[in-house]
Amino acid sequence: MNKILVTGGAGYIGSHSIIDLLEAGYSVVSADNFINSDRKTYDQIKAVTGIEVKHYDIDLCDSLDLEKIFQENQIAAIVHFAALKSVGDSVENPLLYYHNNLAGLINLLRCQEKYEVKNLIFSSSCSVYGNADQLPVTEGTPLKEAESPYARTKQICEQIIFDFLNVHPDQRAVILRYFNPAGAHISNLIGESPHNIANNLIPIITEIAIGKRDRLSVFGSDYPTRDGTCVRDYIYIMDLAHAHTRSVDYLLKQEPEQATIINLGSGTGSTVLEVIHSFEKVSGLKLNYKMADRRAGDVIAVYADYSKAKNLLGWSPQRGLDEIMSSAWSWEQKRNN
Ligand code: NAD
Ligand code: WQD
Repeated sequence: MNKILVTGGAGYIGSHSIIDLLEAGYSVVSADNFINSDRKTYDQIKAVTGIEVKHYDIDLCDSLDLEKIFQENQIAAIVHFAALKSVGDSVENPLLYYHNNLAGLINLLRCQEKYEVKNLIFSSSCSVYGNADQLPVTEGTPLKEAESPYARTKQICEQIIFDFLNVHPDQRAVILRYFNPAGAHISNLIGESPHNIANNLIPIITEIAIGKRDRLSVFGSDYPTRDGTCVRDYIYIMDLAHAHTRSVDYLLKQEPEQATIINLGSGTGSTVLEVIHSFEKVSGLKLNYKMADRRAGDVIAVYADYSKAKNLLGWSPQRGLDEIMSSAWSWEQKRNN
């Protein structure tokens, strides 16, 4: 059985991806330092799958600790989620973000070199596109200036991987650029549980509805979009998770290109108001919101062309916005019981 190292496996996307990998028959080893997650995530994964995931409670920036994983396990592929991800926090603490996100990747690549692990899947982000000129965004859409230190870490990490591949012709990498993931596992036994207060639209909406926050400020109502609010591409978490299993299959069971960049979005753009209305429809509640000023750094509209994921991985999203909202809302209610 192929063993997959999942870094950041206790986090939101990592934990849901571990479930999908386990269900596909892969063996998983996880590494996390719980800087934005909790050890109990592994119990939740066990509750869903019945499998106890072997895990290392380590910081990827500590190269000696990281190396232990490679000494003790024969790793076939790595799925590298571990990173800090808050855009606002990265503006306040740029060095923390550059250090954590870059050093973690470099240490991992050094281990790949030393222990001859040939397959990497890297968590990148639609934020690398910046304010794209062309919509929907394809993998060939030129990258613009990053809007935050966080987004810049993703651009630099991608470049580090390309430079690494240049001198290691036997190495392979899939770079996955996620759009806006949301929702929880269908079992409702696991979902998004960040340490800090949520700062993405969908968890903010559910936190308002449950009474943890007062009111949603809709950032900008005069954008050149169909209703004046920004457009994003929301993707159901288990659809996103499954794309990682498909990427592992692609690397281990097919004849992959050396470097493959893939967009993971639903292909559909939704405005902020459409997201709010979807929530109101599925929950039967009225959301308390007001129109507010634009938020600095927001792109007007971004959504994915995912045809490469479809052609190369045989992947396409299975759930739409209402199902995502319904899942996110069930999870919020469950968390608060
Ligand atoms: P998350 O914060 O829930 O998960 C990241 C995990 O990595 C956490 O468990 C954290 O404790 C761990 N981690 C961070 N730095 C570490 C280190 N140095 N050593 C060990 N563990 C470390 O975030 P997520 O939403 O699951 O995101 C996963 C990946 O996907 C990240 O790379 C993120 O940048 C990327 N991404 C996320 C989104 C999104 O909207 N959630 C969108 C695009 C890309
Ligand atoms: C979505 C829309 C806001 C909060 C972020 C990261 C990006 C990537 C995906 C990691 C925007 C609006 C939000 C609120 C609002 N993550 N909004 N009121 O900005 O698309 O991207 O997540 O890689 O890097 O930047 O997501 O959820 O913050 O915002 O009106 O209180 O909701 O203006 O239009 P975003 P988001």
